[in-house]
Amino acid sequence: MQSEIYPEDARTRKFRQRPHNRYWWYKLADTDYIPPVYGYLTDEEWSIIDQWHTDSGEQFENPGEITVPGISMLLGLIGGNGVSRIVQCGHYAGYSTLLLGFMLRRMGKPHSLFSIDIDPDVTEYTRSWVEKAGLSDFVHLEVSDSADPAIPEKAEQFLTGKPQLVFIDSSHQYAHTFRELDLWYDVLPVGGLCVLHDVSEFARSFDASGEGGVKKALNEWAEKNGVQCFTMNGFVENSPPDDLVYRDGCGLGLLQKV
Ligand SMILES: C[S@@+](CC[C@H](N)C(=O)[O-])C[C@H]1O[C@@H](n2cnc3c(N)ncnc32)[C@H](O)[C@@H]1O
Repeated sequence: MQSEIYPEDARTRKFRQRPHNRYWWYKLADTDYIPPVYGYLTDEEWSIIDQWHTDSGEQFENPGEITVPGISMLLGLIGGNGVSRIVQCGHYAGYSTLLLGFMLRRMGKPHSLFSIDIDPDVTEYTRSWVEKAGLSDFVHLEVSDSADPAIPEKAEQFLTGKPQLVFIDSSHQYAHTFRELDLWYDVLPVGGLCVLHDVSEFARSFDASGEGGVKKALNEWAEKNGVQCFTMNGFVENSPPDDLVYRDGCGLGLLQKV
């Protein structure tokens, strides 16, 4: 049935028709609406996100962006709490960077996202979109290994303080993720948050080293350091998203500095 609030031509409606697997969320039985993470954007901001989907689909076989459930959790944490000092490990083609940047601009928080990626080419691509979106005052892109011990100091300089939230979505490798957790947990203030994508049983297969991925790193790191961690969909091996409440079968992890 045609919705008056979300007419057929509104924003993500056309994504339901697109064949690439990156559009899976928009085709679920229960998600025939514009998700709030796009609904609040201005027409100009939405136009950037819309164009970015088209262009990144032409430039990359798989633009590798986090899911609508994942970005919804992140933006909820940030927008609901005035969080203004954020580190992202892994920006790839720039999806999360643009959406985080738009939220931080709306919140009036310049110098608020320090984002790291080891790949200079994807960083240049993301930089072009950050500039096009007018987000250069809000976002810094750094080419580096996100577990490099020299990086937190640079991040603190840009953010003018310690990061309050670190989002890890980078190598998906067990050993590297363990090092990221050691590095970034240490610099968080008490109460600070670390959010990790790809913590499910299913996402273990993303670890090219075959050592157990983010899930194993997070669980072992939390046990070793006596820190509680919470994982959504950690148990998921291969469930269809329509059967899940938190729809992203790759899962999301949360650690709080105590
Ligand atoms: C899944 S993508 C990130 C997607 C992004 N967060 C988004 O939602 O749009 C993972 C990125 O991590 C980067 N990466 C892989 N290993 C890394 C490392 N050791 N240090 C920093 N970045 C790394 C890759 O180059 C890739 O761009």
